[in-house]
This record gives sequence, structure tokens and C-alpha cells, in this order.
Amino acid sequence: MAQSIQAVRGISDILPEETAYWQLLESQLSRIVASYGYQEIRLPVIEQTALFARSIGEVTDIVAKEMYTFVDRNGDSLSLRPEGTAGCVRACLQRGLLHRQTPRLWYLGPMFRRERPQKGRYRQFYQLGVEAFALAGPEIDAELILMSARFWQALGLADTITLQLNSLGSLSTRKQYQQALVAYFQEYRSDLDEEHRHRLQTNPLRLLDSKMPAVQTLIAQAPKMTDYLDEASSAHFARLRAYLEAAGVAYEINPTLVRGLDYYTDTVFEWVSSDLGAQGTVCAGGRYDGLVELSGGPATPAVGFALGIERLALLYKQHSADKPHKQNLDIYVVAAGDKGQQQGYLLAEQIRDALPQLRIISHCGDDKFKSQFKKADKSGARIALIMGDDEAAQGNVGIKYLREDRAQETVAQKALFTVLGQVF
Ligand code: HAM
Repeated sequence: MAQSIQAVRGISDILPEETAYWQLLESQLSRIVASYGYQEIRLPVIEQTALFARSIGEVTDIVAKEMYTFVDRNGDSLSLRPEGTAGCVRACLQRGLLHRQTPRLWYLGPMFRRERPQKGRYRQFYQLGVEAFALAGPEIDAELILMSARFWQALGLADTITLQLNSLGSLSTRKQYQQALVAYFQEYRSDLDEEHRHRLQTNPLRLLDSKMPAVQTLIAQAPKMTDYLDEASSAHFARLRAYLEAAGVAYEINPTLVRGLDYYTDTVFEWVSSDLGAQGTVCAGGRYDGLVELSGGPATPAVGFALGIERLALLYKQHSADKPHKQNLDIYVVAAGDKGQQQGYLLAEQIRDALPQLRIISHCGDDKFKSQFKKADKSGARIALIMGDDEAAQGNVGIKYLREDRAQETVAQKALFTVLGQVF
């Protein structure tokens, strides 16, 4: 026997039992985004590598270490998308969606990052992302946060997910802050390990989300980003907070929340649960007012977020008593003999025409009736329809009730639809 080939490490199959949960979550999420007037966009999984390097940032972990990059046959460097925002901005520019419009878009699909796999962290994972363009005020930031709060409410998860909020200021004030941060950490350079010294040099803001206890102690005394905000950023942040308070959305200000992608400006937020272990962030996003211009378009403010479907599914299963409704089969067609099998197939087609909501399986193969009935029973169907050569010749069909104490009967095929109308 040939050796079987396994799936790639960190990449899962989503099996039928699991897809029932995913369908439930996706239908709730897409209903809510539509209720805010957002429209779906379907974006490619592969883009030019340069798009991600430029948008997310060369020195971020995502671009420096985690992308699946390959050289196409014509020599182009392409990458599997590690996230959706860069591609969404590219599509908006390339397809003219930003021309005197304020698109509100959402997408759902797989993203790829070569991270170390663990619970809640995979190399292929699914995100639902939402992006709003050309709106500068804090009300759209608030709207996105309210929309995400509505997700948790609808799924019964509001008590387990909390909101963390920060402002990164404008690109220019962030530079000043970054200088102050570097000056501060330079004094403690000798306390830092190799990796943190590297961060200090390449991406100093990432020191703020260090997990190392010694560094965390230093961070407590470090300059605070919120002290460096200019007037416009402070006002934006204050108005956003006022919106959230008016809407009754609780939040915690986390001054060390910096995010792992370079494009953010002003508002950043994460929805976090303590029930997921180390990978507690279910949903995250913020404003990225500089990205459209950086991508070659006109200066255009933008804001968005993405939520991880696997993490949401893990949480939902932990917290919800409701199992997704198992979709049982309705009818199993048992058939034997040349004429019977042919007539059984045709009958199943006629039922699908007349009653499209029913789920019907026609038995395949020449098994004995006994073994076909066993399969019918195991299938979970409510009734078996029986079609042998005799029934076919006489224009009849047998009905066996698999889940109720009711005698088997034979009816004319013409009368079948009346019976099915009563049963289903
Ligand atoms: P992100 O924080 O990199 O942001 O990812 C958003 C969410 O995707 C995370 O909070 C998490 O739930 C999920 N996620 C990320 N990596 C993994 C992984 N390896 N395995 C499982 N789930 C994961 C972004 O991607 C931005 N594009 C969000 C955004 C949209 N900002 C503005 N617009």
C-alpha cells in the first residue's frame, strides 16, 4: 500500500461536524455586517509579495518571517495573503472603488502565516474582515466596534470577550514617540536579549508587546504613547470614547496595544477572551489613514478589523449550549432490479422538483433489500421509499416509516406527493 500523504503542519481540514458550527457563525456574522450596509468583496488569495511588504511593513514578523512566498514561473515573487487589508486596498484602487465613494466592504476567507502552530494559531486560518474607506471621523471607528460588539451579543459571547483600546496617533507624532521610546530603552540595552535589541533597532514599538517579564517591568516606566498624541489625535480618541460610552460599550485603555502590522494610525483595538489560552485575541483592527496613499492612491482615511473564525468557533463551542441543528436526511430511496433502480432514481428527481427543501439519498449499487434498509436506518432518514421491479411495473411505491411506529404501506406513485406533504 502506498504511504498516505498528510496535510501540511498547522493546516486543518474543517470536517462536516465542524462546518455546521462555521455555517451558523458565518450566517450570523454576514447578517450583522449586511445590517450595517456593508457589501461583500471576494479577493484573491495570491498577490505580489511587494504589496504585503509595503503595506504591512518589511520589519514586521508577518512579512519578515511568516509569509508563504514563492517565485512564479515567470520570475515574479508572489505570496499567499497573510491578511486581507492590503489586498482590499489594492482592489479598491485598481478597480476605482474609491472614486468619490465611501465603500464599506467585508470579506471572508483563508489567510496564511507560517507561525508556530498551537491552539487558536494555525498556518491557514479564516478571517472575516471589514473595511470602511474615506471616512475620517471617529463615528465610523465607533460603528465598527459596535458592529463587533453585536457579533458577541448575537452569539451569546458578550460576557467572555472584552475590548481593549489605544491610540497610536498620527505617523509624525508616532515618530516622535518612537524616538523617546528608543532613547529610554537604550539606557537599559544591557538588560535586553538579542531579540529585543533587534526590535529596538528595527521596530521599537514592538517592544511594548513583549512577553518577557523583565521587559514588561521596563515598559511600566517607559514613555506613554497617549502623552505624545497631537491635538487632532487626542480629540479623535476622546470623541470615540464618548461614542462608546454613550452606546454603553465597556472598554479598557491599553497603552501598550501596538498591533503587529505597521499601517495603523490613531485608533487601534482588540477584542480579547481569557478562555482561549495564549491566543486570546478574537478580533482586532484599527484605523490606517496612511495606507491608501502609501499604496499609490489619493490620501484616504480608512478603518477596519478582522476576526479569526477558528478562535470564534472555539469560544462558541465552549460557551453555547446550542448545538447547530443537525440536518438529517428526509428520504432514503431503496431500489432493486433494473426497472426498479431506474424508476427509483427518476422518482427521487421528481421529489426534488416538487419538494426542493427535502434531503434525499438514492441507494447506489445492487445490494440486497435487507442491507439497503440497514443503510437507510443508519442514514437518519425519516422514511425509506421502496422501488422494486414490481412497484415499477405497477406504478406504485412502498413507504417504510423509519422513525415512527406505523405500518409499511404501498401507494400509487401519483399519490406519493400527498403522503409526503403530510409527513414533511
Ligand atoms: P491581525 O490582528 O493580524 O489583524 O488578525 C486579526 C485576527 O485574525 C486575530 O485577532 C485572530 O483572531 C486571527 N488570526 C491571526 N493570526 C492567526 C493565526 N495564525 N491562526 C488563527 N487565527 C489568527 C489583521 O489581519 C488586520 N488585517 C485586521 C484589520 C483589518 N485591520 C484593519 N482592517
